Parts: sequence; C-alpha cells; structure tokens
Amino acid sequence: MPEKEPLNNNPSSEGIQKDQINNYTQQDYFRMPLTFEEIKTKTEKYILNTYNRLPVCFYFGQGPYLYDTEHKRYIDFLSGISVTNLGHGEADIIEAIREQAERIIHTSNLFYNEEQAMLAEVLIEYSFPGKVFFCNSGTEANEAAIKFARHYGQKEKNGAEIIVSLERSFHGRTFGSLSITGNEKS
Ligand SMILES: Cc1ncc(COP(=O)(O)O)c(C=O)c1O
Repeated sequence: MPEKEPLNNNPSSEGIQKDQINNYTQQDYFRMPLTFEEIKTKTEKYILNTYNRLPVCFYFGQGPYLYDTEHKRYIDFLSGISVTNLGHGEADIIEAIREQAERIIHTSNLFYNEEQAMLAEVLIEYSFPGKVFFCNSGTEANEAAIKFARHYGQKEKNGAEIIVSLERSFHGRTFGSLSITGNEKS
C-alpha cells in the first residue's frame, strides 16, 4: 500500500483536520486498503458498466462534507441522490444504526415489523391520509407510481392510461421505468 502524505502537509487538502473528524483519527483516514486507481480498475473489471461514474471515490463524510481518496473536501449537495440527507458521521444516526444492528439486522416483509409500522404512522400523520408503500430504490418507487396511476386511471378516469414523461429524463432501469425514460442511453 503506498504511503500517503500527512494531510496537513498536503497543499491540495482543503483542510481536513484531525479535530473535524469525530471518531476518526488521521491514522484511520490513512487506513485505505486501495488507491483510487485500484478501486477504478476493480470496478471496471468486476462491475457491469451501467453507470457513467465521475472519477472520484469518497472515502468518508463528516456532517455536510465528503472527503475523497485524494484528501479533497467537498460539500455534499447530492446526498446520495437525496437518500442520505441527514449528514455523514452524525452521532445520533450512528447510534441508531448500531442499536438496530445489535438487536436484529433484517427479517423481510414476510413478517410484521415494529419500526416499519411506526414510521408509516409518522409519515401519514405528517403528510396526508392514505397508506405508505416502502421500497428500496427509485426504480421501484417509479414502477409503483406507474401501476398506481394506471390503476387509478382505469378505475376512476374512464380507463385513462397515458403517462406523461419528459425527454432527457431518467427514472430507473426496470422495463416499466425505461418505458417512460426519455433518454436513449438508459
Ligand atoms: C429521477 C430518478 N428516478 C429514478 C432513479 C432510479 O433510482 P434507483 O437507482 O434507486 O433505482 C433515479 C436515480 O438516479 C432518479 O434520479
């Protein structure tokens, strides 16, 4: 593993300081098993090429900041395309994940789940009456939205089934989502 320069001596570093990194020490940060080039090489060799990736690998985050393998700091405006928008390395979130992992990891939707029921209640109480559909990805959400819209159109709107979508859009990689994606390369 190549040695990294200490961050404080690295002029390209945008000031990642030991005291900014809650539970991480500078040493932890340097415990990177792979270089960026090695990560890129393995990615291209072993992962299907279904995404155009920018040449950056974030190594960890702190609050609103992300740090890449080259020690550069970024403000995380993207939040994992809006799915991790509570910040990085936040103590309460780490604690919640730790508690859950200690108690039970996953049991599937074949059974009842206390947290799922409680979260659904909160979402409905703070939004509008109805029911929640939980899913794991954007493409599932859009797939469900297409089905709900068609069902509603058929039942309530004299069989209406046209779905309007935009050019240069992306909605996921299922056949349903692709059918309303206005982007030839998806
Ligand atoms: C608008 C939109 N719809 C759907 C998706 C697909 O999400 P996922 O990759 O979680 O299936 C994305 C992801 O980039 C998206 O931006």
